[in-house]
Amino acid sequence: MDLQLKGKKVLVTGGSKGIGLAVAAAYAAEGALPILVSRDAANLAKGKALIESTYNVACQTVELDLGAPQSAEALFAKVGNVDILINNAGAIPGGTLADIQEDRWRQAWELKLFGYINLTRVYLAAMEKQGSGIIGNIIGMAGAAPRAEYICGVTANAALMAFTQGVGATSHKHGVRVFGINPSPTRSDRMEVMMKNNAKNKLGDESRWTELTSKLPFGRMTEPDEIANLTVFCSSPLCGYLSGSVINVDGGQMFAPV
Ligand SMILES: NC(=O)c1ccc[n+]([C@@H]2O[C@H](COP(=O)([O-])OP(=O)(O)OC[C@H]3O[C@@H](n4cnc5c(N)ncnc54)[C@H](OP(=O)(O)O)[C@@H]3O)[C@@H](O)[C@H]2O)c1
Repeated sequence: MDLQLKGKKVLVTGGSKGIGLAVAAAYAAEGALPILVSRDAANLAKGKALIESTYNVACQTVELDLGAPQSAEALFAKVGNVDILINNAGAIPGGTLADIQEDRWRQAWELKLFGYINLTRVYLAAMEKQGSGIIGNIIGMAGAAPRAEYICGVTANAALMAFTQGVGATSHKHGVRVFGINPSPTRSDRMEVMMKNNAKNKLGDESRWTELTSKLPFGRMTEPDEIANLTVFCSSPLCGYLSGSVINVDGGQMFAPV
């Protein structure tokens, strides 16, 4: 199937690792041109080398803290408009309301909540002016299936789901589609750290973290490639009527009996 993405410029925030790197690689596999953004130059260089050597496409990198003020404008000034923006960079800590004090809560939201909102504001305006564009938001199941022990992420994700639905409900008037994807636990560095913390709290031993994943649908976590392939398909012209929707990818766990 030709997803008609060859030569498209795709900006992927948090593209140096985990889901973001898998997303960038999946676009590159379709002949699109990824631009990776994150803070660590060494990881960016590794991601770029992997993509360029595997898929034979040019891959740009930008070293930037997307939680910093005016970072959205700085990124646009450096990269200019793109065909596809994937908002993915996020690092919200686990914990209950009592665990996460206001300064930590606000710091996490600067990246995952305001980072997505600010980049969407800047790129939506440019895409609407151009009359075409795609914005995909990698959000997270916790917004649809809230739980107290990840309350800061739950609340940001719920806001981003509503944001995606509201913005995507009118962006089509100017040829732009905005959609969201809610991954459930997905194998990445960040998730391994979170799972180890959960295992320490629930089983008293962080090395037993894989026992927690065996209870998930299909007996495992989601693979980054599964989220990446869905993201790429949703942004293809073959999926041209998708806007204002957020897709849950949780193997049905949300509706499963406990
Ligand atoms: N993995 C899951 O189970 C899961 C489930 C639901 C939703 N999600 C969401 O999916 C997204 C990706 O998660 P992941 O698990 O793939 O995370 P990850 O493996 O930790 O990767 C996060 C990426 O974001 C970058 N990043 C972090 N802070 C940044 C900042 N201030 N400025 C710019 N880049 C920054 C990281 O690079 P640097 O640290 O070098 O900057 C890295 O490239 C997140 O929004 C997360 O909430 C993940």
